[in-house]
Amino acid sequence: MNKYTFTTVLTLLLLVLILPVYAYLEPFRMAQDQADLRQEFVADAAVIYVQNCAVCHGASGAGIGATPTLNNPGLREADYDFLYKTIARGRYDTIMTGWHTEEGGILNDYQIDELIALIRYVDWDLVGELAAVQGLIPPTLPVPAVDVTLLADVTALDPQGAVWAAGMQLFANNCAICHGVNGEGSDLGAPLNTPEVRAKETAVLVNTITNGVPGSAMVAWDNALQPDKIEAIAAFLHNWDAIAAQGLALMPPEPVQIDLDNPQDVLALGERIFTATCTACHGDNGSGGIGPALNSQQALTSRSDAQILNTIINGGHRPNSPMPAFGDRFTSVELQALVAYIRAWEPTAPIVENPRGTAQGGGPPWLRATSDGAPAQNQ
Ligand code: HEC
Ligand code: HEC
Ligand code: HEC
Repeated sequence: MNKYTFTTVLTLLLLVLILPVYAYLEPFRMAQDQADLRQEFVADAAVIYVQNCAVCHGASGAGIGATPTLNNPGLREADYDFLYKTIARGRYDTIMTGWHTEEGGILNDYQIDELIALIRYVDWDLVGELAAVQGLIPPTLPVPAVDVTLLADVTALDPQGAVWAAGMQLFANNCAICHGVNGEGSDLGAPLNTPEVRAKETAVLVNTITNGVPGSAMVAWDNALQPDKIEAIAAFLHNWDAIAAQGLALMPPEPVQIDLDNPQDVLALGERIFTATCTACHGDNGSGGIGPALNSQQALTSRSDAQILNTIINGGHRPNSPMPAFGDRFTSVELQALVAYIRAWEPTAPIVENPRGTAQGGGPPWLRATSDGAPAQNQ
């Protein structure tokens, strides 16, 4: 008998012996514990859900854009294996990745079981309230708020300090969103606060920032930033360690609490995020730039909220599009606020013949340039 056959037989024997005893005891044990356990499971899982899943599946499981709902009766009835496999292993070739630690995720078996209990038994309205009220998905801005004393302190460090401070401010406004508040890097951008980057010559850094890295989210900044500003950023990158050594650092913004029932609050949040994150490519007030004009009748009347949301979550449609996928960067509240803010332009949006970016000769008439650089004539 080879060792596998032996083990199989042994396992089967054990099962035959143990199962009836287990089956006999199970109902009693379950009757006592199940209600408590389920409640505990669901409460734990709600926190996991809000922190990890709500960004795509919505605060109350209602789905966002093309992402499916989890609050539906079909899924409540779905069998354990189906749910376990979906959450643990993910769905091949979709943004639903495997969440089990074995798949490079962050959840263990116990936590996945908790999530399955959540999908089966939870009152989804309560999850939504947990998300909104307890600020578990606080609508934070990914852009650091730079205060004047910090800039004054940086300026005082060195004869060149004023240039460093200008570069720091520019970095905070334009680059931190992808490269991290302290240059630590993120899913969207490489680490910049490193000896390797400091070792690069100014000309190399200026060239990368000016011309971008083709085929990546690192776009060319020559349209958006004057050469002296790009040089200031390079000077800041070179001296970041010296600045940090004095305890001077950019701070992530305070979480902002907003009242979701108040449309003014929601629009204000959308405006803050758009100004901080999207204007670099889509221009002030969505007037167009590296990315297409969004503030145009053509762009807005032909697209539903769901389509706009889908682009923000999943990124540009063209292969190698510079439009990043923001799905894992924003909370569901922030995503909804962005869409509401963009939609609010519609009544006053100008008619733009070709809403592709100014870089492609599009954009609104007042920004458009012909190939010789002269302002375009109105047709
Ligand atoms: C980055 C976005 C994203 C995140 C985060 C995410 N999901 Fe998903 N999820 C999806 C997408 C997209 C699908 C649909 C995949 C497909 O096309 O089959 C999906 C499918 C599912 C399904 C199957 C639904 C069905 O009707 O078949 C379950 C269950 C699920 N997700 C649970 C979770 C849980 C639990 C978490 C948190 C641990 C989570 N998801 C996090 C995007 C996401
Ligand atoms: C939309 C996201 C995004 C933004 C915004 C962004 N970057 Fe980048 N950046 C990237 C990515 C991604 C890379 C890595 C590109 C590659 O090599 O594939 C990169 C690479 C770089 C590099 C090269 C790093 C190295 O190791 O050589 C520099 C320098 C840089 N970025 C500076 C900046 C500056 C300065 C800004 C602001 C003006 C900025 N980036 C804004 C995404 C971004
Ligand atoms: C690094 C540059 C860049 C950034 C940053 C960026 N976008 Fe885009 N965006 C683009 C480009 C380029 C396109 C064109 C679509 C394509 O390439 O597939 C686009 C397309 C879009 C579209 C679809 C427009 C259409 O005509 O269908 C929307 C909506 C959009 N972006 C919203 C946003 C929002 C909201 C933000 C901020 C959270 C943002 N973008 C940040 C470059 C950018």
